[in-house]
Amino acid sequence: MAHIKDREIARHSRIMSVGVYRPERVVTNSEIIEAIDSSDEWIKERSGIHSRRIAGDDESVVSMSVAAARIALARAGISAEQLGAVICATVTYPYQTPSAATDIAMQLGAPKVPAFDISAACAGFCYGVGLASDMVRGGSANYVLLIGVEKLSDFTDPTDRGTAFIFADGAGAVVIGPSKEPGIGPTIWGSDATARDAIMMEPSWVELRNQEAPDSLGWPDIKMQGQTVFRWAVYQMAPVAEEALAAAGISAEELDAFIPHQANERIIDAMAKAMNLPESVAIARDIRTSGNTSAASIPLAMDALYSQGQIKSGDTALLIGFGAGLVYAAQVVQLP
Ligand code: COA
Repeated sequence: MAHIKDREIARHSRIMSVGVYRPERVVTNSEIIEAIDSSDEWIKERSGIHSRRIAGDDESVVSMSVAAARIALARAGISAEQLGAVICATVTYPYQTPSAATDIAMQLGAPKVPAFDISAACAGFCYGVGLASDMVRGGSANYVLLIGVEKLSDFTDPTDRGTAFIFADGAGAVVIGPSKEPGIGPTIWGSDATARDAIMMEPSWVELRNQEAPDSLGWPDIKMQGQTVFRWAVYQMAPVAEEALAAAGISAEELDAFIPHQANERIIDAMAKAMNLPESVAIARDIRTSGNTSAASIPLAMDALYSQGQIKSGDTALLIGFGAGLVYAAQVVQLP
């Protein structure tokens, strides 16, 4: 029997750097309340959001990704040609195919690297961290560029009271590469497809094409059953986060930062309380000025904690993403 040659592969992986792009335009609550018959107080009280960034016509999923990726690559000291793969987590790239990742790779000057998108909504970044880490450790890529990016303003109905104030735009990128020490703990991930319709972009392209009257179905916007999502996140995500801590062999006391998906500040508070996180743990609250940017929210929140001086390189952070699917993923990481 012939033997396939074995090769040396990295035993461990780590996040080497992070870079972000925040759209220029800041949109305050007062600018959106009229269309949804709401108030600044209601939005702050129910979601924690004071303002968000909304991308302009010249700020696309790809341009925001490229800007964030350039920073992450420079900080990692890696050139685009050295990349073994580009993964883009997004649900708002407006083409079904080809992927955003191939365009991003090309614009970075690496048009030949393996590149693909993943669709895991607000869990997309943590799905990507798990995937990229396993790729590095499995030998299918030495350095992986992972981007979480959304232009949710293209797929949010500005008159929908349940979503218009929540969703926003932005991009975050990390480079994941080999490491001498474990820098990324085991990913605890899963889904609950029985609640598929709790967050959904509707109608489908086919329904749209087959509609009887022009525009009768509208545009594919995100529809959300707010209370269902709220209850699921509050009661079911803290145990997942605790499982990720246990799998990494890290206690809550050893943790420096908790960087959950920025869905809603009340969800962040409820999770931190359920997990009994000590006061010493820095908790990301980028939601206040960034809104919910789905796959981009965790790297954006990580960047904000650095800017606020709340975390430093080498700190231990717990990440958890959760959203439409429903899907979730969590892992403990050593911060770059
Ligand atoms: N502005 C003002 N009032 C609003 C409103 C808005 N945008 N939307 C709903 N309301 C009112 C309703 O009319 C209702 O009033 P009533 O009690 O007089 O009938 C009241 O607020 C409660 O409505 P409800 O739809 O039950 O809202 P809620 O308490 O569930 O809050 C969310 C809505 C969206 C803030 C909440 O469900 C939530 O945060 N869900 C999780 C969303 C999330 O994090 N999604 C991201 C997951 S990735």
